[in-house]
Amino acid sequence: MVKAKSVFVCSSCGAKYARWQGQCRECGEWNTISEQVLSEAPTAGAAVARRALSGFAGAAGTGVAALSEVQVQGTARLPTTFQEFDRVLGGGIVPGSVVLIGGNPGAGKSTLLLQTVCRISAGTRVLYVTGEESLEQVALRARRLNLPTGGVRVAAETSIDNICALASAEKPQVLVVDSIQVMHVQGVESAPGSVSQVRESAAALTQFAKKTHIAVFMVGHVTKDGTLAGPKILEHCVDSSVILESGNDPRFRTLRCHKNRFGAVNEIGVFAMTDTGLKEVKNPSAIFLNRQEKVAPGSLATVVWEGTRPLLVELQALVDYSQYGNPRRLSLGTDQNRLAMLLSVLHRHAGCQFADQDVFTNVVGGVRIEETASDVPLALALLSSFKGVAIDRQTIAFGEIGLTGEIRPVASGQERIAEAFKQGFRRFIVPKDNAPRQIPAGMEVHAVSRVDELLELVG
Ligand code: TYD
Ligand code: MG
Repeated sequence: MVKAKSVFVCSSCGAKYARWQGQCRECGEWNTISEQVLSEAPTAGAAVARRALSGFAGAAGTGVAALSEVQVQGTARLPTTFQEFDRVLGGGIVPGSVVLIGGNPGAGKSTLLLQTVCRISAGTRVLYVTGEESLEQVALRARRLNLPTGGVRVAAETSIDNICALASAEKPQVLVVDSIQVMHVQGVESAPGSVSQVRESAAALTQFAKKTHIAVFMVGHVTKDGTLAGPKILEHCVDSSVILESGNDPRFRTLRCHKNRFGAVNEIGVFAMTDTGLKEVKNPSAIFLNRQEKVAPGSLATVVWEGTRPLLVELQALVDYSQYGNPRRLSLGTDQNRLAMLLSVLHRHAGCQFADQDVFTNVVGGVRIEETASDVPLALALLSSFKGVAIDRQTIAFGEIGLTGEIRPVASGQERIAEAFKQGFRRFIVPKDNAPRQIPAGMEVHAVSRVDELLELVG
């Protein structure tokens, strides 16, 4: 008897091994390696796309062409009717693009996509394929949310071959596949959700989208450690990868772009989850700022530049005498190493000794700040908590701190100042090179160039 060939695959990163082992050498995960029987047609995905393409012109391999002569068709973006969603996608849905929407169970991925397809269905042909819910459930939800369902076509299907065939017949402009983890491709032996099924399904859908100019949204679940199941595999084959996540406040969801071939990354969109589905939050700064009446030491607002727009958030710091020999340093929402660096710079260049203090910092609302402009406000919040002196509520700060104690300018300084002024802030602590030349009436600007100048501004 001929033994079927098999390979051992890690379900986290997709690495392949000849025999089983407890830990994956590539990603370090334990118990993620399982046996998979090799299929006879290793490129099952390609075969699916080919099988389903018969209804479309121009689907055959095109050979080599001059770049200047390549025909570009249908590049106008389709709006999603959600401004927040459009901005995250880089200005709307690109025909033929593949977008992966990731998120924890219950984040609202199905809700967001159902709302989107229903709202665009008046002018756009859409096909919503669900592999997780029944058609009744989808219809119930659409009715409960009062969505216009007239032009929406739906199907309950888990076979990629059938989905491609359905889409070939329906010829939609937008196809939603919810979710990629329950899909399977003919000719791949392993179970739905396994790395090879997810990869083949995604590859087949991607090829199908590219050749038919149908925009495809794939829903992908996030595993318990926060990565998309088979993250590397999915992320490199799609055009855009966005994650819908809920922060500390369960009412709000942020849509964050991690990869985008058609726009800027770091763009975020903010939604509120209400009893009638997701609603856009047009002024997200308002929810990330603490509206307490009384000011307490250790808190300060800052403007971060996420993607193409400013966002006002509140930073908090707590500096407290450490009871133990090994003081704790913990930062939530900002880089841990940067906190250690800031504490050293404050010690060396401003004479503040934190060696016997526990230090905690936090960004209110569960926002993550990647940029260095949060150095100055963090340092101010640390000093404020350390000295026990509250900073005036109308104060806002931004700027980068260098290792020699200098304060460096950051990008989009003027825009940050303008946005904060619009939101009611009046006292600005900014790097010297970001200070505005003309100061409007009512604005107080402290242009700083060294960290020791921050000391005088607190207390
Ligand atoms: P869902 O879109 O099913 O999540 P996902 O597809 O990402 O797993 O959203 C389910 C959650 O959203 C659920 O916890 C309830 C909440 N929700 C509301 O609060 N209001 C609503 O109108 C809807 C449809 C869902
Ligand atoms: Mg769902």
